[in-house]
Amino acid sequence: MRISVIGCGYVGLVTGTCLAEAGHEVICTDNDPERIASLKAGVVPIYEPYLDAMLAANQRAQRLSFTSDAGETVRAGEAIFICVGTPPLENGEADLSAIDDVARMIATEARESKLVVEKSTVPAQTGQQLKRVLEVYRRNGTVQFRVASNPEFLREGTAVEDFLHPDRIVFGVEDEVSERQLREIYRPILERKFRCSVHMNACPATQPPTLVVTTINSAELIKHASNSFLAMKISFANMIADLCEKVGADIKEVTRAMGMDQRIGPRFLDAGLGFGGFCLPKDVQAFIRLAERSGVDFNMLKEAERVNKEKIRRALWGVKDKQGGVLGLAFKANTDDIRFAPSLDVLRKLLAEGAEVRAYDQEAMDRTSAVFPQVRCCREPYEVAQDADALLILTEWEEFRQLDWKRVHGLMARPLVIDGRNLLNPAAMLESGFEYYCFGRPMESAAAPLVLPQISKTNAVGITA
Ligand code: UDX
Repeated sequence: MRISVIGCGYVGLVTGTCLAEAGHEVICTDNDPERIASLKAGVVPIYEPYLDAMLAANQRAQRLSFTSDAGETVRAGEAIFICVGTPPLENGEADLSAIDDVARMIATEARESKLVVEKSTVPAQTGQQLKRVLEVYRRNGTVQFRVASNPEFLREGTAVEDFLHPDRIVFGVEDEVSERQLREIYRPILERKFRCSVHMNACPATQPPTLVVTTINSAELIKHASNSFLAMKISFANMIADLCEKVGADIKEVTRAMGMDQRIGPRFLDAGLGFGGFCLPKDVQAFIRLAERSGVDFNMLKEAERVNKEKIRRALWGVKDKQGGVLGLAFKANTDDIRFAPSLDVLRKLLAEGAEVRAYDQEAMDRTSAVFPQVRCCREPYEVAQDADALLILTEWEEFRQLDWKRVHGLMARPLVIDGRNLLNPAAMLESGFEYYCFGRPMESAAAPLVLPQISKTNAVGITA
């Protein structure tokens, strides 16, 4: 099928490229001509495993193309996927202005009837708004617009695999024609009949994705509810971690046993610095605002948000006028994304306290240097440890778990490690002579009660409880 994608950010690039990989003819546009120029040259402006190779292959196969001509893009596709950003406004509401602009553009540029698909994350009832704008600005009276919602559940770092091997695919539709068209678009993925460059065609024998066909409002709400539930799960684990510190229990043991209950499940129970990234924080806020507008009490979710902010606030260790080392800048492993990353708050605090900051991350250093040019980005983790008075682990990169910690011990001015992702083994770290702090894990000398020892100017770590 001929498919148009509007918005070449994370969601648009993964959606467009994977639908081309599944055999469709996809044309993508974006209002940033530089982004289009680099994509035409095969340069992918984000780090996402498998995406650049798949994008280049589908461009070569002429199944995928990029243009700055939005009108041409609208006219080319039978179905148009709206993948523009819906960033948070000051008040936490989702900013839908880009959706509105795109709807007007589609309404004025279309010459034939179209299926218009919401792929961006939007609050419930946005589809109705979209339909109205398309109707009001429609230039050609013979053109009919059918609107549908098709939320994505992609995680950064595994987005290509998540698109090709989803747990479920959700269609929010108002008529059978739209449902049939979306089934046609997703048939290769639903029937697992596509060439998979993630598994080199040796895909794991998992269940094919479940298709959920529902109303547009329900589909929109499924996305916000799913992300908010994931955020609550993380905050619940972080809350329990606080209790573990008080009663001398081990959060890892507690969540491992909790997760064995299939009703709970083992994932998204990793306690630590809290959740960041461009999705969970903003979707939680937008969902709370939607509930408030609808007169529904969402205190439970507000609490999950408060616990998360509190976790990050309490993780703002200071290394006054000394040398602080930071391992991990991205909001999570396997991505170069630092948007709403807990590391941003920690760096701000360290710099405000006059610390000299060295940092390392295998993917996110360029983006961090653009925000914090005063942070010295190092080529490898050991350079960060050299003469450091404290080492803060902020992202769960596997690389940090594999480090030669005995060597790190020898390099540091003071062997103080604060593990914001519970990545390391407390007993092993203590044995290696480190002062080691983490979340919710009992350790003789280093149980991380929230109030760490006040450290005078001589030993340079001040802690805000
Ligand atoms: C999320 C949703 O998972 C995805 O379905 C949706 O489409 C987009 O938003 P993403 O933002 O890529 O994806 O990140 P995710 O993997 O969900 O992690 C979010 C944050 O939670 C990260 O900061 C991560 O470090 C943190 N996290 C995750 C925890 O602190 N503990 C956990 O157990 C899991």
